[in-house]
Amino acid sequence: EKGTYPHYMLKEIDEQPLVMRKIIQAYQNENNELHIDEPVVGAMKEADRIYIIAAGTSYHAGLVGKQFIEKSAGIPVEVHVASEFNYNMPLLSEKPLFIFISQSGETADSRAVLVQIKEMGHKALTITNVAGSTLSREADYTLLLHAGPEIAVASTKAYTAQLAVLAILAHVTGQSCGTVQDFDLIQELGIVATAMEALCDTKEEFEEIAREYLSTTRNCFFIGRSLDFYVGLEGSLKLKEISYIQAEGFAGGELKHGTIALIEEGTPVVALATQEAVNLSIRGNVKEVVARGANPCIISMKGLEDEEDRFVIPEVNPMLTPLISVIPLQLISYYAALHRDCDVDKPRNLAKSVTVE
Ligand code: M6R
Repeated sequence: EKGTYPHYMLKEIDEQPLVMRKIIQAYQNENNELHIDEPVVGAMKEADRIYIIAAGTSYHAGLVGKQFIEKSAGIPVEVHVASEFNYNMPLLSEKPLFIFISQSGETADSRAVLVQIKEMGHKALTITNVAGSTLSREADYTLLLHAGPEIAVASTKAYTAQLAVLAILAHVTGQSCGTVQDFDLIQELGIVATAMEALCDTKEEFEEIAREYLSTTRNCFFIGRSLDFYVGLEGSLKLKEISYIQAEGFAGGELKHGTIALIEEGTPVVALATQEAVNLSIRGNVKEVVARGANPCIISMKGLEDEEDRFVIPEVNPMLTPLISVIPLQLISYYAALHRDCDVDKPRNLAKSVTVE
């Protein structure tokens, strides 16, 4: 039930800190260490390459998950949109492991891939919010998101839960491989939960940003580099889905290869700047669009902020920034949809789970 909330989406955005804490608890053993069952960790370690298969928001979580797994566990990862993988299968490695990411566990495009790779004799792990869902039942292993039911069509808490579970999976595998030492992920995720709370407590800021930038615009761009790029993709999907504003996410460096032609006087460009290594270059990209008339909205992180920034998120571990930088984008999309009188929880033409290919 949505209780006093006007929409499920807002309630689900607010639940994210609690979901983080539930996940930390659910994946801890009696010694208060992060734990994932041995068969899953064993399957990860045996794989010479991991193939993440997903759609929509879950695909965007997969892009971040690739970085987690490659950095922590040193296993190469490919991320594929399920509907493409099906009919255009890449050459597979010798010992692949498939990870299906799906909030509902019912997405038909993903299921079609699962059926195909099982026939080929490969192993599959499903990361889902729904115990007993089709993708969970048909895979060899399941990791649950513990996010509670997600009702709004726009996925919010499932995305951050997917990132947290992927981070834990990468971490525990890395520990078992000996590639991760001295990194207290429980503590870092606790810091994330607190930062999420702080963001959820400053909703008026995001309502204001939505009003200022998105009340009447026809389009909007999201730019970022490295992890921020992936979060920008998710931000643009959220905005399109519920506010019907044409939105696109781009890698900061890719803009000048064509897309910059779309920037006009007043075009909103949301730029994420949470990654130290690319901070100067993304700010350079902002200057490029401003010179063409864009209306920039820079969202940076504490420690990397600059006077020009519209909002500064609290500092968290640089690898985990997607878990919190997405929250301003979720809230901005929510308020943009509200200001434009859209049906936030049930956007047109969409269903919560897509059970046709
Ligand atoms: O249930 P799934 O995670 O498999 O769903 C995949 C997509 O259909 C889903 O994430 C969709 O993109 C959301 N409506 C996005 O908010």
